[in-house]
Amino acid sequence: MKYLKLQKKTKKEMLKKLKFNAKKTDIFLKKYFLKQKKTKLIGPMKYGVISGGKKIRSSVILATGKLFDINPKKLLNVCAAVECIHSYSLIHDDLPCMDNDNIRRGKPSTHIKYGESTAVLAGNSLLTLAFEILSDKNFLIEKKIKVELIKELALCSGHSGIAGGQEEDLSFENKRKNSKQILNMQKKKTGKLFNFCCLSAGIIAKKNNLKKKQLGILGEEIGLLFQLADDFLDVKGFKKKVGKPTKKDKKKGKSTLIGLLGYKKSYDFAQILKKKILRKASNYGKKGEDLINIVEFILKREF
Ligand code: IPE
Ligand code: IPE
Ligand code: MG
Ligand code: MG
Ligand code: MG
Repeated sequence: MKYLKLQKKTKKEMLKKLKFNAKKTDIFLKKYFLKQKKTKLIGPMKYGVISGGKKIRSSVILATGKLFDINPKKLLNVCAAVECIHSYSLIHDDLPCMDNDNIRRGKPSTHIKYGESTAVLAGNSLLTLAFEILSDKNFLIEKKIKVELIKELALCSGHSGIAGGQEEDLSFENKRKNSKQILNMQKKKTGKLFNFCCLSAGIIAKKNNLKKKQLGILGEEIGLLFQLADDFLDVKGFKKKVGKPTKKDKKKGKSTLIGLLGYKKSYDFAQILKKKILRKASNYGKKGEDLINIVEFILKREF
C-alpha cells in the first residue's frame, strides 16, 4: 500500500499550507490589479477576490502540478484566473435573485457593500479578467497551450459548467429531484471548475487526450466532494466559523443529497466518493501526497 507510506498532514498543517498557497495567488492578483486602469469597479472586484476565502482551488492546481513536476510559478496565472471565476460566481450566487445571502467570507456580501448593479458588473468584470490573465503576454507559456487553457476554462464556466449548474440549482428549489439529477447539477455548479483545476495541469504538462480526460474527471469528483462538504457545513457548521449563513439550504428548499437521503446516508456516500478519489490519487505515489492531503481535508473542514 503506497498510500500508507505517505505523510499525512494534520488539519492545522493543512490550513497553514492552504494559507501559504492562497497568499501566492493574492500577491499575484494584487500586482495584476495595480496594472489595471483605475475604474470604479476595481474596488468591488478586489473586495470580491483578494484576501478572502480558502483559495482551495489554487491549492488543487498546485497539487496536480506536482504530479507532473510543474514549476509552481508556471501555474500562478491559472490559479489567479480560477479564483477570479470562482469569486465572480460567489458574488452572483449571493445576489437577491439567487441565494440572497448577506454575508460572505465573514464580511458583507459584495452587493450589500456596493449595491446590486455594481456587484453584477464587478462579477462580470472578474469573469472577463480571468481570460485576460490567461492570455497575458507575461504568462510565459506556448500559445497553443494558452488557447487550450482559455477554451477549457470557458467550457467549465459557462452554460455547460458553473452557470448551467447554478441555473439548475435555482430551478430545482422546492422540487423533488432524484440523486442523479442532484449530483449532475452539483458536478456542474461546483465540479466543473475543479475539473479545470486538474485538467489545466495536464494541459501544461502536455499529457495526451485520455490522460487529460481522466484528470478532468478526477477534478470533477473532487469538486463534487467539495460541494457535498459545503452542504454538510450548511447543516452542522456555525456561521461565525464558516463565514457565511448556515442552515439555509433547507429553508430555501435547495435540492441536496441531504434533503433526499438524510445526513448519514449522504455522508456515507461522500466517504465512498472520497475513497475512490484517494485510490486514483495514490497511483501517483509520493507525488500525489499534496492532492491526497487536500482531499482528506475537504471532508474534515470546518469552513
Ligand atoms: C463556496 O466555495 C461555494 C462552493 C462552491 C461550495 P468555497 O468554500 O471555496 O469558498 P471560499 O472561496 O473559500 O470563500
Ligand atoms: C455555490 O453553491 C456554488 C457556486 C458555483 C457559486 P452554494 O450556493 O451552496 O455556495 P454557498 O454555500 O453560498 O457558498
Ligand atoms: Mg447557490
Ligand atoms: Mg449560495
Ligand atoms: Mg452552500
